[in-house]
Amino acid sequence: MASHQQRAGHDDGGGPQLTREQIERLEKRYGNRYLLEPAPDHKLPKIGMSAEEAQGLIEKEMVLDGIPMRNLATFVTTWMEPEADRIIAENLHTNFIDHAEYPQTAEIEQRCIRMLADLFHAPGKTTGARTQGSSEAIMLGALSLKWKWRQRREAAKKSVGRPNLVFGGDVHVVWEKFCRYFDVEPRIVPLKRDKYTIGPEDVEPHVDENTIGVAAVLGTTFTGHADDITGINDYLVRLKNEKGLDVPLHVDAASGGFVWPFLYPHTEWDFRLEQVRSINVSGHKFGLVYPGIGWLVFREAGDLPDDLVFYENYLGKRDATFTLNFSTGSAMVLAQYYNFVRYGHDGYRYIMETMQYNARTLVKEIAATGDFTLIGGEQDEQLPLVAFQLTGEHDYDEFDVAAQLAAERGWMLPAYTLPPNAEHVKIMRALVKQTLGHSLVTTLGADIVEACATLKKKGRLHESDRKRVKTNTGY
Ligand SMILES: Cc1ncc(COP(=O)(O)O)c(C=O)c1O
Repeated sequence: MASHQQRAGHDDGGGPQLTREQIERLEKRYGNRYLLEPAPDHKLPKIGMSAEEAQGLIEKEMVLDGIPMRNLATFVTTWMEPEADRIIAENLHTNFIDHAEYPQTAEIEQRCIRMLADLFHAPGKTTGARTQGSSEAIMLGALSLKWKWRQRREAAKKSVGRPNLVFGGDVHVVWEKFCRYFDVEPRIVPLKRDKYTIGPEDVEPHVDENTIGVAAVLGTTFTGHADDITGINDYLVRLKNEKGLDVPLHVDAASGGFVWPFLYPHTEWDFRLEQVRSINVSGHKFGLVYPGIGWLVFREAGDLPDDLVFYENYLGKRDATFTLNFSTGSAMVLAQYYNFVRYGHDGYRYIMETMQYNARTLVKEIAATGDFTLIGGEQDEQLPLVAFQLTGEHDYDEFDVAAQLAAERGWMLPAYTLPPNAEHVKIMRALVKQTLGHSLVTTLGADIVEACATLKKKGRLHESDRKRVKTNTGY
């Protein structure tokens, strides 16, 4: 049988080929030229195809991607209400940065920032930014820390040559990226063999007069727990009062910023704490909006250094921007506002409680197998996810279970190892989001049992199968 490429009319393989004329004749009669030709993949095709065919070509290739609702690795939203989908579809054609042309969209962005500042207990009127996600928000927040530190040092006539930033090994890679891109020494507190978040005692040895700030995580990517933010704040307050060293705290609340206010409203991690000067949160994670939207919120307007804001005369109007990107869509800003007004505080709480309830159901299912232990205790404050690892002696490991589960049922449930010095710890982790309702959770529990039963019978997977396992933490 002729290979796909030969059938598709490539002229470099032997065997029967369709000529361009034959393809065109067939296409005229039946359409679907893309069924006979390779997909354009390295240069623009000389002539295009009909809209319908282009759509068909792309849609058919998309079946090879995973089904987002089976993606238990991602923190990012995979479902929104049809009404939100409509708002998004209707606003795909507006450029968010054109504030002069779309002033109401700009106003809606500001409403979202004000609502978030209120949710995070900002003491008064403040400022912030809409970003592409938490990564951009972190870059901008950390740049503000650097600029503010430099201002303090220059005012005190001290050197500004060696800024450093202190954070734990449990942070997202973006923090190291910031340090590399913007020339700041990363002071990374390694994790411990049995402790996967950090606290004041871990931070203290690394802080000095060149520390632009400390970053703490609310809901880590690895296990969903929070750093001891109150403890770190208390230490920084002490440092300020006793040694006159004012080191700000930035909270990376990429995931936790939309979870803690609803599930753990009495836990103080935000602007209720004196040293917390800025917070980032991903709208596209538990803010329940599709990618990409994130937010940066400052404690006070003065925490954003003036010289990071660009004032420009754009299309005849004076405009201020504080972004790394310029042009971007408006749709997700509107979608965020849709969720805020649609769900309100009670709605978000209901959704978070539902996810938490289903996560706890999954915990019970997994614990009942007797094969796994859960990472963290029942009383721990945690994102709605289940992180677990094998217990006892097995001929297979977490990576085998992940691969078997994918092979049998198509679940994308990642296995990975933790950062240093806990790299010996293998973990599996399932996000329990809105789309993983009670019946799917129990099905997933049963599927995990099945996958383990198969592995018990046949032993660990072949190396080539293990290579296909999803081994990053998922974002
Ligand atoms: C704790 C934390 N910080 C930052 C990020 C980066 O966020 P984004 O994907 O919104 O850029 C993530 C993503 O998973 C995260 O979990």
